[in-house]
Amino acid sequence: MHKEPLVYLDGRFVEKSKATVSVFDHGLLYGDGIFEGIRAYNGSVFRLVDHIDRLYDSAKSIRLTMPLTKREMTEAVLDTMRKNQLRDAYIRLVVTRGVGDLGVDPALCKDPTTFIIAEPAESVLGPRELRVVNVMVSAYRRDAVDATSHEIKSLNYMNSILAKLEANSAGADDAIILDHRGFVSEASVTNVFLVKDGDVSTPSAAAGILHGITRARIISLCSDLGIDVAQRDVTPFELTSADEVFLVGTKSEIRAVGSISGVEVGSGGAGELTRKLYAEFCKVVQRAEEGTPVYETGSVTVQRRSPGPASLSRRRRQPGPLPQGLKQ
Ligand SMILES: Cc1ncc(COP(=O)(O)O)c(C=O)c1O
Repeated sequence: MHKEPLVYLDGRFVEKSKATVSVFDHGLLYGDGIFEGIRAYNGSVFRLVDHIDRLYDSAKSIRLTMPLTKREMTEAVLDTMRKNQLRDAYIRLVVTRGVGDLGVDPALCKDPTTFIIAEPAESVLGPRELRVVNVMVSAYRRDAVDATSHEIKSLNYMNSILAKLEANSAGADDAIILDHRGFVSEASVTNVFLVKDGDVSTPSAAAGILHGITRARIISLCSDLGIDVAQRDVTPFELTSADEVFLVGTKSEIRAVGSISGVEVGSGGAGELTRKLYAEFCKVVQRAEEGTPVYETGSVTVQRRSPGPASLSRRRRQPGPLPQGLKQ
């Protein structure tokens, strides 16, 4: 009989068909919650420390009291991988405000709901290759940093969904979304880079972007290659007149942009630097030290031990050392 994948749900592992949350959960009723989309390559969860840090930063900004410590959350992600015997996976980690009444008040939601889904990479992501995508500039503007900012990785994705719907109806692969001032912000679920005369730039946090983990790794990869990346305001004109434009994100990795609203970018294919970065990035993700090993935590450098919270006793195995860089 086919064994069902197991989903982590509030401290238990349940079969996929039974992994359900209440219709009174404010994550569902109001999009009140936060999440991370994470990838594991070759038995190591890529930049897991960064994802956990970003999740807790999002929680702080929406005043969500997390039900687990960072260390416990890390272990829960690794356990989900182990339970499903995965090495290459796409992981979705979600924490909602939890069950409340029909009013919006988060104060009436007592316990957050946490769930973690890990699926084999091939079933959710398709083959890894450098794809060239055609995008359009969306009429929808990214929410400002003092509004429902995408700096918070919240369950409220309507802004991206509207842009994606618009791209779908225009026959484009994706949409570039401008900020409230008219500068380039990001694409629906990826950050944007451009190359002009050898200079690499990407919109800064001021444009209301998600502080992308792939973006950060691409910036440091460029630095390793002796290339400075300017984080600055980018105009739509600069994008269409760039030599190369590419999009980066956990799920898509790197995508070359062939055209923007019908205007060809560079030669219309993947540019030289985009191809080089993609080749390098493919090597980076395979390095165990770029992530947190799933099956051999003993090999990871210990930075700091947590006090060992009581809820860890629910688990079979003893907690391993704290993954490198993890702040408790
Ligand atoms: C709006 C948005 N921007 C950028 C990204 C890329 O971020 P990351 O590289 O952390 O996946 C995502 C990823 O889901 C996203 O949703």
